[in-house]
Amino acid sequence: MSHFVEPTAQEYEGWNEFYSKPISDKLPALIRDERIFDVIFAQQFDRDFLDLMCRLANMIRIMAKTRTGSLKLKRLLAHKRAMLYFVQPSTRTFLSFLNACQILGINVSEIRATSTSSEVKGESQEDTIRTFASYEDMIIVRHSEAGFAEKMSWLLNQTDHPVPVINGGSGPDQHPTQALLDIYTLERSFEAIGGLDGKKIAMVGDLKRGRTVRSLSYLMKNYKDVTLYFVSPDVFRMRNDIKEFLDKHAIPFHETDDFESVMPLVDAIYMTRIQSEYPGGPETGTETYPRFHLRNDHLSVINPHCVIMHPLPRRYEIEVAVDKDPRAAYWRQERNGMWLRAALIAYVFKVEDVIAKEFS
Ligand code: NCD
Repeated sequence: MSHFVEPTAQEYEGWNEFYSKPISDKLPALIRDERIFDVIFAQQFDRDFLDLMCRLANMIRIMAKTRTGSLKLKRLLAHKRAMLYFVQPSTRTFLSFLNACQILGINVSEIRATSTSSEVKGESQEDTIRTFASYEDMIIVRHSEAGFAEKMSWLLNQTDHPVPVINGGSGPDQHPTQALLDIYTLERSFEAIGGLDGKKIAMVGDLKRGRTVRSLSYLMKNYKDVTLYFVSPDVFRMRNDIKEFLDKHAIPFHETDDFESVMPLVDAIYMTRIQSEYPGGPETGTETYPRFHLRNDHLSVINPHCVIMHPLPRRYEIEVAVDKDPRAAYWRQERNGMWLRAALIAYVFKVEDVIAKEFS
């Protein structure tokens, strides 16, 4: 029996109107003191910001290796508290944010299911969000609803006590911090061959409902001469909003269902899982789409420098035998998430210069 009580639904006025505005109208609201305050969309990041994040993540990674360095990092934000509101399943994003906070000395609170919050007593989402801001200096949120993180920031920015909101995954829509760590992984992997500019990237799998490939596609506007290959079954093709964005920014992309023909062409292969928890797929949802899997015998076909990525969790789409190949970057990629998220949090709390001073 469900104990859920329907909220008495005292809606805060104006959200629907705000939500339907074009993204360009919404971006200014996420900035304070000419800096990014709320991290909601991948479209917020420009090249300078992305380069800064990569440099800062490197510095934090190096500092955290020594006892002296890690103690310095731990003192940086020991006066701050962060909330992890993760009401959609998560392993990596949750743990990497948690550890990123701990690296910087931040105290963390967590709620991992609405069933353990006063939402079951009928409290509205809006009042729940306001309550977090009474105790915390930052809210990191993962939610199955597209737009939920954005709603949090919209709401708090109208109060006299707004705190930064970081989107840790908003339904099938966006996952901007995953896109940041993917950029960091690509840039690190291509360090000896000129970085991400000029590279060809294949995104494979459920491109329709996979939020990671959507956010990563937006970031391509910041790099020169990148070409994308969208490789998917017909039912999971990339949605039009992303394709229109790429056209607008003159970023070439090719769509195909022939994975093997693309393998030898690209510098990176970004594999994704079929997102069967969301609507919009075929009825049965049990198909594994073997033509879109990367197998051990494909390793002889791909480029010697090709980077194999996956946001994880994986199901069938990358054969476990591939893990041993030095081109398999996904385990490094998940670890990069912790460094990059620490860099992002350090930036939001304005301590990036203190870190950089250690290296000057
Ligand atoms: C992804 C997500 O949750 O969107 N995982 C992650 O955050 N590392 C990808 C997925 O669930 O398939």
